[in-house]
Amino acid sequence: MAVPLFDTVSPVAPLRAELDTAIARVLDGGVYILGPEVEAFERELAAYLGVKHVVGVANGTDAITLALQALGVGPGDEVVVPAFTFYASAEAIPPTGANPVFCDVDPETMCVTAETVRAALTPRTRAVIAVDLFGNAAPIPEVVALGVPVVEDAAQAVGARLGDRMAGALGDVATFSFFPSKNLGCFGDGGAIATDDDALADAARVLRFHGSRDKVSYERIGWNSRLDELQAAILRVLLPSLDAWSEGRRTAAAHYAAAGLGELVALPVPTAGAVPAWHLFVVRHERAAELEAALADVGIGARGYYRTPLHRQPALAPWVPAGLELPVTDELARTHLAIPMNPLLDRAAADEVTAAVRTALTAS
Ligand SMILES: Cc1ncc(COP(=O)(O)O)c(C=O)c1O
Repeated sequence: MAVPLFDTVSPVAPLRAELDTAIARVLDGGVYILGPEVEAFERELAAYLGVKHVVGVANGTDAITLALQALGVGPGDEVVVPAFTFYASAEAIPPTGANPVFCDVDPETMCVTAETVRAALTPRTRAVIAVDLFGNAAPIPEVVALGVPVVEDAAQAVGARLGDRMAGALGDVATFSFFPSKNLGCFGDGGAIATDDDALADAARVLRFHGSRDKVSYERIGWNSRLDELQAAILRVLLPSLDAWSEGRRTAAAHYAAAGLGELVALPVPTAGAVPAWHLFVVRHERAAELEAALADVGIGARGYYRTPLHRQPALAPWVPAGLELPVTDELARTHLAIPMNPLLDRAAADEVTAAVRTALTAS
């Protein structure tokens, strides 16, 4: 039985009629940019997250750039970012004029900690980007306690929780991606910024629309970065299912544990107090690359997402000081492996994947 790495079709299939209705509503209304659907989705996501403001933007990368600028980050500032994350977490910094400073992560949760961030702080640090990696929630409150503004990159973690707060409500401002394979994925590109801070939300709204409030006066150099009406209408249909999908992902994780996967590879470890949303189910093993190839041979989706960590990416070399050592990041880059995960992944699929892992690891 082939098991794909993720499944963007089956979970939304039961919602097809509602999606068709929502899309037709937008076409009938003839408003495609910044209209009632975006406004309603912003309100609905804010209520879901328990924050005051959500600002829809074009994608999760822009969301980080705009959030940083809305915080006041600019030329010459430093922004701390983990080196073990998707490239966009760091790529979003230089467009503000600020410099990325790379920090390490925890070997088990794969997220930053107060200690890994503290090691990268300097008097020029203006913000920290803490990534809720793979659907885990980073320990944001302990990073906030360092006294530097925190941008929570929750692109992979919508629906996760830490204590009684939702991921995306943990720092000064949070950013989301609605890329189709994300836990709340639209049918194109989309993103959002979430915050309790009125001034920050206002700045983000101005920045997403060319630095203007009224298309007459342009107060700053901004961006053209809007969530569009069609994607917002689609997201409004999907949002009410998010909690059930997150529960399905946690059930899938439990299937893997019950199947005995933890005896073969290291299972992902939630941050203390976190209820993860397992965007990706990322295990660790010394022979991860070999395992990746062996699973592909038998039709099981597996991928090492960040084999080359950010401090070793050519485009980011100008921001990497000579001799920078991030040992945990390097170790995880080598040993991590995402295996199939989706809200509907059942015990049979977990057994199949686990058996294939066992065969691959005992074969040689
Ligand atoms: C951790 C992280 N940050 C940022 C992004 C950027 O989001 P987008 O692809 O919507 O620009 C992604 C996803 O692609 C991501 O996984």
